[in-house]
Amino acid sequence: MAPAMAIQNIVDEQETEYQKGVKQLYEKGIRKLPRKYILPSHERPNITSNNGHQHQYQAPKDFATKRNGGAKQNIQLPVIDFAELQGPNRAQVLKSLANACENYGFFQVVNHNIGDGVISDMIDVGTRFFGLPFEERSKYMSANMKAPVRYGTSFNQNKDNVFCWRDFLKLMCQPLPDVLPHWPSSPHDFRKSAATYAKDTKHLFVMLMEAILESLSPAPETAAFPAADGEVVDEMEKELMEGGSQLMVVNCYPPCPEPDLTLGMPPHSDYGFLTLLLQDDVAGLQIQHNDKWVTVDPIPNAFVVNVGDHLEIFSNGRYKSVLHRVLTNQSRNRISVASLHSLPFEYTVRPWPKLIGEQNPKRYRDTDFATFLQYISSCEPKRKNFLESRKIC
Ligand code: OGA
Ligand code: NI
Repeated sequence: MAPAMAIQNIVDEQETEYQKGVKQLYEKGIRKLPRKYILPSHERPNITSNNGHQHQYQAPKDFATKRNGGAKQNIQLPVIDFAELQGPNRAQVLKSLANACENYGFFQVVNHNIGDGVISDMIDVGTRFFGLPFEERSKYMSANMKAPVRYGTSFNQNKDNVFCWRDFLKLMCQPLPDVLPHWPSSPHDFRKSAATYAKDTKHLFVMLMEAILESLSPAPETAAFPAADGEVVDEMEKELMEGGSQLMVVNCYPPCPEPDLTLGMPPHSDYGFLTLLLQDDVAGLQIQHNDKWVTVDPIPNAFVVNVGDHLEIFSNGRYKSVLHRVLTNQSRNRISVASLHSLPFEYTVRPWPKLIGEQNPKRYRDTDFATFLQYISSCEPKRKNFLESRKIC
């Protein structure tokens, strides 16, 4: 064989290996991060951005231990007590909720009524899924973005030049009776635990969304159109309750040999209304806050909830869809389950008419899911490009 061809074969073989995911690499016991995963230096995690300009972050000598140990640059997100939201203090909690959505784009929800067992079963069954032999997991690999189940690696493995240190299982959740038979049949209890979890998070999403609509509603005397546009709320609530799209992503971040050179997930914002994220006890999620990357401390059994692009559009920019990313670490496997919620795929998202008036002109174009899919399949989904493309200057 000619040397050039031999080299090409090696490159192709490696490519195939990388397409199989990072769990594979970890299990092989690699000590060095393959070049495929090494980010250009300005995109590595020990970089901080300032007013949109990135500059070299001066890491303290014990930076790595501090970062992984969680002593530095951590953030206490606003905590929303769901039980209190349902009680006599609702008005107060709605204010905290509005503040969180405006100034952080993120909050944590506690006392949410989803049983500890449902949560631990989901983490457990997710962990066991990634523990299956590759042959079993790979049955669910698919290039079709609309497949009811999709196993894969990186962020967008067909487009990414540099791969991320993440494997994932994406599950469409609506309509559940139709998609369930496509979900993994192994581990044997996967469908049962994941379906219960999907239903419970959907219900929590609906309750949170109701609170968010309430928090956005202008007081009658200050409303642009005092005769509140009830129809829009009702139609939206109905769609969110009965139709709605829900996508669940089980993320697996195996220990990474060189966490400073790569990311588990690159900076991105989420496309829907809200994402309910469950993280195990290993920190890794970072959000951009006041131009710094800060780590979200896991609270056991709490949900990290964030505003997605659609809610930013719907609120005409008042609530912020904030960039976030995931760090890897050298010693512990991390599992997270993100539940992304939005309107039915064919539904158009637009700024809520009752917020729009002379004082507050419409700042975003109407957007549907098809436009989003078209957008991400036509260019690399990086940062907030999609949302930016919907802004009216
Ligand atoms: C996501 C996400 C964060 C995490 O799935 O969109 O941001 O901690 N996940 O896994
Ligand atoms: Ni996300």
